[in-house]
Amino acid sequence: MDFTVLTLFPEMFSALLVGGIIKRAVESRRISIEAIDIRDFATDRHGIVDDRPYGGGCGMVMKPEPLAGAIRHAKKRHPEAYTLMLTPQGRLFDQALARELPGYAGLILICGRYEGVDERISQDLVDGELSIGDYVLTGGELAAMVVIDAVTRLIPGALGGEQSAEEDSFSTGLLEYPQYTRPRSFEGVHVPDVLLSGDHGAISRWRRQASLIRTLLKRPDLLLGQPLRPGDMEFLEKLRQHIETIIEKHSTAS
Ligand code: ADE
Repeated sequence: MDFTVLTLFPEMFSALLVGGIIKRAVESRRISIEAIDIRDFATDRHGIVDDRPYGGGCGMVMKPEPLAGAIRHAKKRHPEAYTLMLTPQGRLFDQALARELPGYAGLILICGRYEGVDERISQDLVDGELSIGDYVLTGGELAAMVVIDAVTRLIPGALGGEQSAEEDSFSTGLLEYPQYTRPRSFEGVHVPDVLLSGDHGAISRWRRQASLIRTLLKRPDLLLGQPLRPGDMEFLEKLRQHIETIIEKHSTAS
């Protein structure tokens, strides 16, 4: 997957190469990351990339000519790439969308700055718009890095053990079960016995049930939106019976 980022701050993207999985994915040529400076496509000799908004108002708007030049340059180099603008107005980026994106040979990620980008760019030269959350950043760069990170770890081989991406939070539709490593006892808290039992069936059941409980407590909305596995309903029913018994006991006592 080739990531081409169009930005006024290309040096920010060197942060992705400091270490870890993204750096390894670049070194093993599973991905490439190229950050292109939009200012290089300015049409005047002062390198101006912004201007005042028509109609008045505060702040500046990114001029269309440098952006159009940068996008056309990137598309010529990567004709198969999908072009996405990072903006708080875009489709909310989630794990389902992250899973769709490795299907493209390349992504061209356009990072806006200032008060926004001239509307004619989004209309004519962009395939889609992406937001990483309902808050406003000072530019699209951090959002582009989030997209690169989340998509790269789903590219086959990028994580090393194929298993890890499948078991993650959201990949099963539920939050991930709790993880433990040595020591067996830390500051008086013990690792659950089942994880030391060597019984893989019991471990797998415990993990699924722990995921269900966690999701129920922290993100119940996720349980409404996806199919449950055989066995999940019985477990949830058992939980319901326990809860009802506790409530009944305490309401008759008071
Ligand atoms: N640019 C500014 N805020 C953003 C957000 N929340 N998502 C994507 N791009 C942005």
